[in-house]
Amino acid sequence: MKVFKTTNSLQKQLLLINFKNSLGFVPTMGALHDGHLSIIERAKKENDFVLASIFVNPTQFDKEDDLKKYPNQLERDLELLKSKNCDFVFIPSVDEMYATKIKSETFDFDGLDKVMEGAFREGHFDGVGTIVKKFFEIIQPNKAYFGEKDFQQLQIVKKMVEKNHLPAEIIACPIYREKDGLAMSSRNTRLSDKNRKAVPLIYQTLVKSKNLFLKMNINDVKKSVKNEFKNHPELTLEYFEIADIITLSPSITKDKNKKYRAFIAVLAGSIRLIDNIALN
Ligand code: PAJ
Repeated sequence: MKVFKTTNSLQKQLLLINFKNSLGFVPTMGALHDGHLSIIERAKKENDFVLASIFVNPTQFDKEDDLKKYPNQLERDLELLKSKNCDFVFIPSVDEMYATKIKSETFDFDGLDKVMEGAFREGHFDGVGTIVKKFFEIIQPNKAYFGEKDFQQLQIVKKMVEKNHLPAEIIACPIYREKDGLAMSSRNTRLSDKNRKAVPLIYQTLVKSKNLFLKMNINDVKKSVKNEFKNHPELTLEYFEIADIITLSPSITKDKNKKYRAFIAVLAGSIRLIDNIALN
């Protein structure tokens, strides 16, 4: 496994892969868990070479404290990637990616960024779009892999690729969960013991909402979820929405020709967790 810190050295290596070989790209912010590693495995099966990046992207953090406390386990991450036979790892510095201007580009995502994560985390998706676009321009992957855990991010990246006519194919990967249903996340390690015990409620609520969705109207499903969280004061429900998977706009009525997902964001102490589930 070869590790690169500069764009220059990485691009020299990529030139050596001839055009007959396919390159799969897996962008991450490190603190890797089995969800990330499952994506690496999938990318390995589908490409001749796999490149992972580890870069905690400052422009996508809306809270200074979240950025400062983002877990950093580089040595462990590199060992894990090696164990999955990842071919290349790109670990650029902030300077390398942003030079002197740590600032996002402004994107038009056709409104996909105006709801849910976009509404609660100002500038977040411009930050994600900026860094993913920079990576795609440097790496020019054949395929790039994103988790459905961040479903809104996945749809936004697809939109960015479409609008900028980038050649990468975006591959969606299923959500990996702990045994108790909690979606794996690098932020889970920051939960207190007490909150770690409480947070399986997030996925339990999503599963329940999936059952209710079949027999109730959307408003009643939302009310039921809100009530559930009222009984658990250690967790604060930030939003629960049911949205059409294409437009991501929260729905009030069901159209049987459309596909819906439920989306949730919850605060456990100062740790913010998100999850989602397909409803039909
Ligand atoms: P990060 O949170 O490290 O996630 C890297 C990739 O792993 C994302 O595509 C994310 O959706 C996926 N992922 C995270 N947890 C997962 C889980 N439990 N199951 C399946 N996939 C999971 O998302 C980012 O980094 C950044 O925004 C990034 C795209 C790297 C841009 O900075």
